[in-house]
Amino acid sequence: MKKKLLSLLLATIMVVGLVTGCGNGGEDVASGGSGASNIDSNVTDSGDGGNSGDVQVGIVLPTKDEPRWLQDQKQFETILGDAGFTNQVLFSQGSSATEKTNVETLISKGIKVLIICAQDGAAASAAVEEARDAGVKVIAYDRLITGTDAVDYYVTFDSFAVGAAQGQYLIDNAPSGSNVPLYLYAGAATDNNAFIFFEGAWSVLQPKIADGTFKIANSSEAEALKDKAELSREEIGTIIGQVTTDWDFNVAKSKAEAHLTAASADVKGDVLVLAPNDGTSRSIADVFATDKDITKYVITGQDSEMASVQYIIDGKQSMTVFKDTRTLAADSVAMAVDILDGKEPATDSSYNNEKIDVPAKQTAIVVVTKDNVKEALIDSGYYEASEFTGLE
Ligand code: GAL
Repeated sequence: MKKKLLSLLLATIMVVGLVTGCGNGGEDVASGGSGASNIDSNVTDSGDGGNSGDVQVGIVLPTKDEPRWLQDQKQFETILGDAGFTNQVLFSQGSSATEKTNVETLISKGIKVLIICAQDGAAASAAVEEARDAGVKVIAYDRLITGTDAVDYYVTFDSFAVGAAQGQYLIDNAPSGSNVPLYLYAGAATDNNAFIFFEGAWSVLQPKIADGTFKIANSSEAEALKDKAELSREEIGTIIGQVTTDWDFNVAKSKAEAHLTAASADVKGDVLVLAPNDGTSRSIADVFATDKDITKYVITGQDSEMASVQYIIDGKQSMTVFKDTRTLAADSVAMAVDILDGKEPATDSSYNNEKIDVPAKQTAIVVVTKDNVKEALIDSGYYEASEFTGLE
Protein backbone atom coordinates (compact mmCIF):
# COMPACT_ATOMS: atom_id res chain seq x y z
CA MET A 1 0.00 0.00 0.00
CA LYS A 2 2.83 2.36 0.94
CA LYS A 3 4.37 1.78 -2.46
CA LYS A 4 1.08 2.62 -4.11
CA LEU A 5 0.76 5.81 -2.09
CA LEU A 6 4.25 6.86 -3.05
CA SER A 7 3.68 6.31 -6.75
CA LEU A 8 0.41 8.20 -6.50
CA LEU A 9 2.13 11.12 -4.82
CA LEU A 10 4.88 11.06 -7.38
CA ALA A 11 2.36 11.03 -10.20
CA THR A 12 0.58 14.02 -8.69
CA ILE A 13 3.82 15.91 -8.20
CA MET A 14 4.82 15.15 -11.77
CA VAL A 15 1.54 16.51 -13.05
CA VAL A 16 1.81 19.61 -10.91
CA GLY A 17 5.36 20.08 -12.13
CA LEU A 18 4.24 19.75 -15.70
CA VAL A 19 1.50 22.25 -15.22
CA THR A 20 3.80 24.75 -13.56
CA GLY A 21 6.30 24.40 -16.35
CA CYS A 22 3.72 25.06 -18.98
CA GLY A 23 2.00 27.86 -17.12
CA ASN A 24 5.25 29.77 -16.84
CA GLY A 25 6.14 29.02 -20.39
CA GLY A 26 3.76 30.93 -22.53
CA GLU A 27 0.14 31.56 -21.77
CA ASP A 28 -0.86 34.64 -19.90
CA VAL A 29 -1.41 33.29 -16.41
CA ALA A 30 -3.56 35.47 -14.24
CA SER A 31 -3.74 33.59 -10.99
CA GLY A 32 -3.88 30.11 -9.67
CA GLY A 33 -5.25 30.95 -6.26
CA SER A 34 -7.72 28.41 -5.05
CA GLY A 35 -9.82 30.99 -3.23
CA ALA A 36 -13.14 29.52 -4.19
CA SER A 37 -16.03 31.92 -4.04
CA ASN A 38 -19.60 31.22 -4.98
CA ILE A 39 -20.83 33.49 -7.70
CA ASP A 40 -24.30 32.01 -7.48
CA SER A 41 -25.76 28.67 -6.54
CA ASN A 42 -24.80 27.16 -9.88
CA VAL A 43 -21.37 28.57 -10.21
CA THR A 44 -18.18 28.14 -8.30
CA ASP A 45 -15.29 30.29 -9.34
CA SER A 46 -12.13 28.48 -8.46
CA GLY A 47 -9.93 31.47 -8.90
CA ASP A 48 -9.39 33.34 -12.09
CA GLY A 49 -7.83 36.11 -10.08
CA GLY A 50 -10.63 38.47 -10.96
CA ASN A 51 -9.40 38.63 -14.52
CA SER A 52 -12.53 37.27 -16.10
CA GLY A 53 -11.19 37.54 -19.62
CA ASP A 54 -8.40 35.04 -19.11
CA VAL A 55 -9.22 31.50 -18.13
CA GLN A 56 -7.13 28.77 -19.75
CA VAL A 57 -8.94 25.67 -18.59
CA GLY A 58 -12.69 25.53 -18.02
CA ILE A 59 -14.25 22.75 -16.01
CA VAL A 60 -17.95 21.93 -16.04
CA LEU A 61 -19.33 19.41 -13.53
CA PRO A 62 -22.89 18.05 -13.33
CA THR A 63 -24.12 19.01 -9.86
CA LYS A 64 -23.09 20.18 -6.43
CA ASP A 65 -25.86 18.12 -4.89
CA GLU A 66 -23.93 14.85 -5.07
CA PRO A 67 -20.77 14.62 -2.92
CA ARG A 68 -19.05 12.71 -5.72
CA TRP A 69 -18.65 15.84 -7.82
CA LEU A 70 -17.46 17.97 -4.91
CA GLN A 71 -14.60 15.49 -4.57
CA ASP A 72 -13.67 16.13 -8.20
CA GLN A 73 -13.99 19.90 -7.75
CA LYS A 74 -11.60 19.77 -4.81
CA GLN A 75 -9.02 17.84 -6.84
CA PHE A 76 -9.19 20.24 -9.78
CA GLU A 77 -8.85 23.26 -7.54
CA THR A 78 -5.88 21.73 -5.75
CA ILE A 79 -3.99 20.63 -8.83
CA LEU A 80 -4.71 23.59 -11.09
CA GLY A 81 -4.72 26.20 -8.36
CA ASP A 82 -1.43 25.13 -6.78
CA ALA A 83 0.18 25.19 -10.18
CA GLY A 84 -0.77 28.74 -11.00
CA PHE A 85 -3.05 27.75 -13.81
CA THR A 86 -6.04 29.94 -14.57
CA ASN A 87 -9.19 27.91 -14.34
CA GLN A 88 -12.82 28.03 -13.43
CA VAL A 89 -15.17 25.28 -12.24
CA LEU A 90 -18.87 25.68 -13.05
CA PHE A 91 -21.71 23.39 -11.99
CA SER A 92 -24.69 22.58 -14.20
CA GLN A 93 -27.03 21.68 -11.35
CA GLY A 94 -28.72 18.89 -13.28
CA SER A 95 -29.66 21.12 -16.21
CA SER A 96 -28.37 20.75 -19.76
CA ALA A 97 -29.42 24.37 -20.42
CA THR A 98 -27.26 25.62 -17.53
CA GLU A 99 -24.48 23.38 -18.76
CA LYS A 100 -24.61 25.00 -22.20
CA THR A 101 -24.60 28.47 -20.67
CA ASN A 102 -21.63 27.46 -18.54
CA VAL A 103 -19.72 26.31 -21.62
CA GLU A 104 -20.57 29.57 -23.40
CA THR A 105 -19.39 31.57 -20.37
CA LEU A 106 -16.09 29.72 -20.38
CA ILE A 107 -15.66 30.17 -24.14
CA SER A 108 -16.19 33.90 -23.69
CA LYS A 109 -13.43 33.89 -21.07
CA GLY A 110 -11.01 32.53 -23.63
CA ILE A 111 -10.54 28.93 -22.49
CA LYS A 112 -8.31 26.76 -24.64
CA VAL A 113 -9.38 23.47 -23.07
CA LEU A 114 -12.78 22.42 -21.76
CA ILE A 115 -12.99 19.54 -19.28
CA ILE A 116 -16.63 18.57 -19.05
CA CYS A 117 -18.64 15.92 -17.24
CA ALA A 118 -21.95 16.00 -19.03
CA GLN A 119 -25.28 16.16 -17.31
CA ASP A 120 -26.85 14.40 -20.28
CA GLY A 121 -24.39 12.73 -22.65
CA ALA A 122 -26.44 13.30 -25.81
CA ALA A 123 -27.69 16.79 -25.00
CA ALA A 124 -24.14 17.99 -24.25
CA SER A 125 -23.17 17.52 -27.90
CA ALA A 126 -24.52 20.98 -28.80
CA ALA A 127 -22.41 22.64 -26.10
CA VAL A 128 -19.18 20.91 -27.08
CA GLU A 129 -19.77 21.62 -30.75
CA GLU A 130 -19.90 25.30 -29.85
CA ALA A 131 -16.63 24.88 -27.98
CA ARG A 132 -15.03 23.11 -30.94
CA ASP A 133 -16.21 25.87 -33.28
CA ALA A 134 -14.50 28.37 -30.96
CA GLY A 135 -11.22 26.46 -31.27
CA VAL A 136 -11.45 24.87 -27.82
CA LYS A 137 -10.26 21.29 -27.25
CA VAL A 138 -12.78 19.15 -25.41
CA ILE A 139 -12.00 16.50 -22.81
CA ALA A 140 -15.02 14.45 -21.72
CA TYR A 141 -14.56 13.79 -18.02
CA ASP A 142 -15.92 10.57 -16.47
CA ARG A 143 -19.06 10.54 -18.65
CA LEU A 144 -18.78 10.17 -22.43
CA ILE A 145 -20.54 12.71 -24.63
CA THR A 146 -22.35 10.87 -27.40
CA GLY A 147 -23.40 11.47 -31.00
CA THR A 148 -20.82 14.09 -31.91
CA ASP A 149 -17.30 14.31 -33.29
CA ALA A 150 -16.55 17.36 -31.12
CA VAL A 151 -15.02 15.32 -28.29
CA ASP A 152 -11.25 15.17 -28.51
CA TYR A 153 -10.45 12.94 -25.53
CA TYR A 154 -12.14 10.97 -22.78
CA VAL A 155 -10.75 10.51 -19.28
CA THR A 156 -12.58 7.83 -17.35
CA PHE A 157 -12.57 5.08 -14.80
CA ASP A 158 -13.08 1.54 -16.02
CA SER A 159 -16.86 1.65 -15.74
CA PHE A 160 -17.42 -1.92 -16.93
CA ALA A 161 -15.13 -3.06 -14.11
CA VAL A 162 -17.19 -1.00 -11.65
CA GLY A 163 -20.38 -2.85 -12.56
CA ALA A 164 -18.63 -6.22 -12.67
CA ALA A 165 -17.14 -5.60 -9.20
CA GLN A 166 -20.58 -4.75 -7.83
CA GLY A 167 -22.11 -7.89 -9.33
CA GLN A 168 -19.24 -10.07 -8.17
CA TYR A 169 -19.54 -8.72 -4.64
CA LEU A 170 -23.18 -9.76 -4.54
CA ILE A 171 -22.26 -13.24 -5.78
CA ASP A 172 -19.45 -13.61 -3.24
CA ASN A 173 -21.63 -12.46 -0.36
CA ALA A 174 -24.92 -14.10 -1.29
CA PRO A 175 -26.71 -16.36 1.14
CA SER A 176 -26.54 -20.03 0.14
CA GLY A 177 -29.35 -21.76 -1.67
CA SER A 178 -31.33 -20.92 -4.78
CA ASN A 179 -33.82 -18.25 -5.75
CA VAL A 180 -32.04 -15.62 -3.66
CA PRO A 181 -34.00 -12.39 -4.26
CA LEU A 182 -32.05 -9.86 -6.30
CA TYR A 183 -33.21 -6.24 -6.56
CA LEU A 184 -31.75 -4.32 -9.49
CA TYR A 185 -31.31 -0.55 -9.66
CA ALA A 186 -29.53 1.55 -12.28
CA GLY A 187 -28.27 5.07 -12.95
CA ALA A 188 -29.79 7.71 -15.22
CA ALA A 189 -30.65 6.74 -18.79
CA THR A 190 -29.11 10.04 -19.94
CA ASP A 191 -25.71 8.90 -18.62
CA ASN A 192 -23.72 6.58 -20.85
CA ASN A 193 -21.99 5.23 -17.75
CA ALA A 194 -25.27 3.84 -16.42
CA PHE A 195 -25.33 1.48 -19.41
CA ILE A 196 -21.72 0.41 -18.93
CA PHE A 197 -22.15 -0.15 -15.17
CA PHE A 198 -25.22 -2.28 -15.81
CA GLU A 199 -23.53 -4.19 -18.61
CA GLY A 200 -20.61 -4.97 -16.28
CA ALA A 201 -22.91 -6.13 -13.48
CA TRP A 202 -25.02 -8.19 -15.87
CA SER A 203 -21.92 -9.92 -17.24
CA VAL A 204 -21.38 -11.65 -13.90
CA LEU A 205 -24.91 -11.76 -12.49
CA GLN A 206 -26.67 -13.17 -15.55
CA PRO A 207 -25.37 -16.75 -15.23
CA LYS A 208 -26.56 -16.82 -11.62
CA ILE A 209 -29.95 -15.52 -12.63
CA ALA A 210 -30.24 -17.93 -15.56
CA ASP A 211 -29.37 -20.98 -13.43
CA GLY A 212 -31.87 -20.08 -10.70
CA THR A 213 -29.38 -19.15 -7.98
CA PHE A 214 -30.77 -15.62 -7.98
CA LYS A 215 -34.34 -14.52 -8.63
CA ILE A 216 -34.97 -11.02 -9.96
CA ALA A 217 -37.36 -9.32 -7.58
CA ASN A 218 -38.27 -6.03 -9.21
CA SER A 219 -37.82 -5.99 -12.99
CA SER A 220 -40.00 -7.89 -15.44
CA GLU A 221 -37.80 -6.53 -18.26
CA ALA A 222 -34.65 -8.04 -16.76
CA GLU A 223 -36.56 -11.24 -16.05
CA ALA A 224 -37.61 -11.45 -19.72
CA LEU A 225 -33.95 -11.13 -20.79
CA LYS A 226 -32.45 -13.44 -18.17
CA ASP A 227 -31.20 -16.04 -20.62
CA LYS A 228 -29.18 -13.53 -22.67
CA ALA A 229 -25.55 -13.30 -21.60
CA GLU A 230 -24.97 -10.15 -23.63
CA LEU A 231 -27.55 -7.44 -23.95
CA SER A 232 -27.78 -4.81 -26.67
CA ARG A 233 -27.80 -1.16 -25.63
CA GLU A 234 -31.50 -1.08 -26.41
CA GLU A 235 -32.17 -4.07 -24.17
CA ILE A 236 -30.19 -2.53 -21.33
CA GLY A 237 -32.22 0.61 -21.97
CA THR A 238 -35.48 -1.23 -21.38
CA ILE A 239 -34.24 -2.54 -18.03
CA ILE A 240 -32.85 0.86 -17.03
CA GLY A 241 -36.20 2.37 -18.02
CA GLN A 242 -37.79 0.21 -15.35
CA VAL A 243 -35.25 0.40 -12.52
CA THR A 244 -33.57 3.77 -13.02
CA THR A 245 -32.84 5.97 -10.02
CA ASP A 246 -32.04 8.91 -12.29
CA TRP A 247 -29.03 9.20 -9.94
CA ASP A 248 -31.52 10.89 -7.63
CA PHE A 249 -31.70 9.90 -3.94
CA ASN A 250 -35.43 10.59 -3.75
CA VAL A 251 -36.25 8.61 -6.87
CA ALA A 252 -34.19 5.74 -5.49
CA LYS A 253 -36.02 5.90 -2.19
CA SER A 254 -39.52 5.96 -3.63
CA LYS A 255 -38.72 3.18 -6.12
CA ALA A 256 -37.38 0.98 -3.33
CA GLU A 257 -40.47 1.69 -1.22
CA ALA A 258 -42.77 0.83 -4.12
CA HIS A 259 -40.84 -2.38 -4.85
CA LEU A 260 -40.97 -3.57 -1.25
CA THR A 261 -44.64 -2.73 -0.97
CA ALA A 262 -45.37 -4.80 -4.07
CA ALA A 263 -42.97 -7.64 -3.19
CA SER A 264 -44.36 -11.02 -2.25
CA ALA A 265 -42.93 -13.10 0.62
CA ASP A 266 -40.71 -15.16 -1.70
CA VAL A 267 -38.63 -12.07 -2.57
CA LYS A 268 -38.19 -10.93 1.03
CA GLY A 269 -35.91 -12.41 3.71
CA ASP A 270 -32.17 -12.32 2.94
CA VAL A 271 -31.80 -10.27 -0.24
CA LEU A 272 -29.24 -8.81 -2.62
CA VAL A 273 -29.42 -5.26 -3.97
CA LEU A 274 -27.51 -3.93 -6.95
CA ALA A 275 -27.42 -0.19 -6.19
CA PRO A 276 -25.53 1.79 -8.83
CA ASN A 277 -23.79 4.38 -6.64
CA ASP A 278 -23.37 5.53 -3.07
CA GLY A 279 -26.06 8.20 -2.93
CA THR A 280 -28.75 5.87 -4.22
CA SER A 281 -27.35 3.01 -2.14
CA ARG A 282 -27.84 4.93 1.11
CA SER A 283 -31.43 5.81 0.15
CA ILE A 284 -32.27 2.26 -0.86
CA ALA A 285 -30.49 0.76 2.17
CA ASP A 286 -32.52 2.98 4.51
CA VAL A 287 -35.72 1.63 2.95
CA PHE A 288 -34.62 -2.01 3.12
CA ALA A 289 -33.44 -1.58 6.71
CA THR A 290 -36.90 -0.57 7.86
CA ASP A 291 -38.86 -3.40 6.19
CA LYS A 292 -39.63 -5.97 8.87
CA ASP A 293 -39.70 -8.80 6.33
CA ILE A 294 -36.17 -8.10 5.10
CA THR A 295 -33.94 -10.06 7.44
CA LYS A 296 -30.67 -9.11 5.77
CA TYR A 297 -29.57 -7.15 2.72
CA VAL A 298 -26.27 -6.99 0.86
CA ILE A 299 -26.03 -3.76 -1.10
CA THR A 300 -23.48 -2.27 -3.49
CA GLY A 301 -22.40 1.28 -4.23
CA GLN A 302 -19.63 3.32 -5.85
CA ASP A 303 -17.76 6.60 -5.34
CA SER A 304 -16.58 6.17 -1.73
CA GLU A 305 -18.58 9.17 -0.66
CA MET A 306 -17.87 10.06 2.95
CA ALA A 307 -21.41 9.32 4.09
CA SER A 308 -21.23 5.87 2.50
CA VAL A 309 -17.86 5.15 4.05
CA GLN A 310 -19.55 5.81 7.41
CA TYR A 311 -22.44 3.53 6.33
CA ILE A 312 -19.91 0.80 5.53
CA ILE A 313 -18.20 1.20 8.90
CA ASP A 314 -21.63 1.03 10.54
CA GLY A 315 -22.66 -2.06 8.53
CA LYS A 316 -25.48 -0.27 6.70
CA GLN A 317 -23.90 -0.42 3.21
CA SER A 318 -21.88 -3.49 2.19
CA MET A 319 -19.35 -2.12 -0.29
CA THR A 320 -18.39 0.81 -2.43
CA VAL A 321 -16.09 1.20 -5.39
CA PHE A 322 -13.28 3.67 -4.86
CA LYS A 323 -12.76 5.83 -7.91
CA ASP A 324 -9.77 7.94 -6.98
CA THR A 325 -10.70 11.39 -8.22
CA ARG A 326 -7.12 12.53 -7.60
CA THR A 327 -6.00 10.34 -10.49
CA LEU A 328 -8.85 11.29 -12.81
CA ALA A 329 -8.40 15.01 -12.25
CA ALA A 330 -4.61 14.71 -12.57
CA ASP A 331 -4.96 12.73 -15.81
CA SER A 332 -7.24 15.29 -17.38
CA VAL A 333 -5.06 18.18 -16.25
CA ALA A 334 -2.01 16.42 -17.73
CA MET A 335 -3.95 16.09 -20.98
CA ALA A 336 -4.88 19.76 -20.89
CA VAL A 337 -1.22 20.67 -20.37
CA ASP A 338 -0.18 18.59 -23.37
CA ILE A 339 -2.85 20.23 -25.47
CA LEU A 340 -1.75 23.72 -24.40
CA ASP A 341 1.83 22.70 -25.18
CA GLY A 342 0.83 21.54 -28.65
CA LYS A 343 1.62 17.91 -27.81
CA GLU A 344 -0.52 14.86 -28.44
CA PRO A 345 -1.78 13.55 -25.06
CA ALA A 346 -1.13 9.89 -24.26
CA THR A 347 -4.17 7.60 -24.32
CA ASP A 348 -4.55 3.89 -23.64
CA SER A 349 -7.96 2.95 -25.01
CA SER A 350 -10.89 4.27 -27.00
CA TYR A 351 -14.65 4.51 -26.55
CA ASN A 352 -17.14 4.69 -29.38
CA ASN A 353 -19.60 7.51 -28.82
CA GLU A 354 -21.97 6.49 -31.64
CA LYS A 355 -20.17 8.87 -34.00
CA ILE A 356 -16.42 8.40 -33.53
CA ASP A 357 -13.93 6.40 -31.50
CA VAL A 358 -12.82 8.82 -28.80
CA PRO A 359 -9.23 8.30 -27.62
CA ALA A 360 -9.39 7.59 -23.89
CA LYS A 361 -7.29 7.33 -20.76
CA GLN A 362 -8.70 4.82 -18.34
CA THR A 363 -8.17 4.47 -14.59
CA ALA A 364 -8.55 1.32 -12.49
CA ILE A 365 -10.97 1.00 -9.59
CA VAL A 366 -10.69 -0.50 -6.09
CA VAL A 367 -13.40 -2.39 -4.21
CA VAL A 368 -13.82 -1.09 -0.65
CA THR A 369 -15.47 -3.01 2.18
CA LYS A 370 -15.32 -2.79 5.95
CA ASP A 371 -12.17 -4.94 5.78
CA ASN A 372 -10.01 -2.63 3.68
CA VAL A 373 -11.64 0.75 4.19
CA LYS A 374 -8.78 2.04 6.31
CA GLU A 375 -6.08 0.89 3.94
CA ALA A 376 -7.84 2.11 0.78
CA LEU A 377 -9.19 5.44 1.93
CA ILE A 378 -7.32 6.58 5.03
CA ASP A 379 -3.81 5.22 4.53
CA SER A 380 -3.91 6.47 0.93
CA GLY A 381 -4.54 9.98 2.24
CA TYR A 382 -7.93 10.34 0.56
CA TYR A 383 -9.79 10.93 3.82
CA GLU A 384 -8.78 11.61 7.43
CA ALA A 385 -9.58 8.99 10.06
CA SER A 386 -11.04 11.79 12.19
CA GLU A 387 -13.80 12.28 9.62
CA PHE A 388 -15.40 8.98 10.70
CA THR A 389 -16.59 7.33 13.86
CA GLY A 390 -16.08 3.70 14.82
CA LEU A 391 -13.12 3.17 12.50
CA GLU A 392 -10.87 0.40 13.82
C1 GAL B 1 -21.71 8.53 -12.99
C2 GAL B 1 -20.41 8.53 -12.26
C3 GAL B 1 -20.58 7.95 -10.92
C4 GAL B 1 -21.76 8.54 -10.17
C5 GAL B 1 -22.93 8.88 -11.04
C6 GAL B 1 -23.92 9.83 -10.41
O1 GAL B 1 -21.56 8.97 -14.27
O2 GAL B 1 -19.45 7.77 -12.97
O3 GAL B 1 -19.37 8.05 -10.21
O4 GAL B 1 -21.39 9.60 -9.38
O5 GAL B 1 -22.58 9.37 -12.28
O6 GAL B 1 -23.49 11.14 -10.44
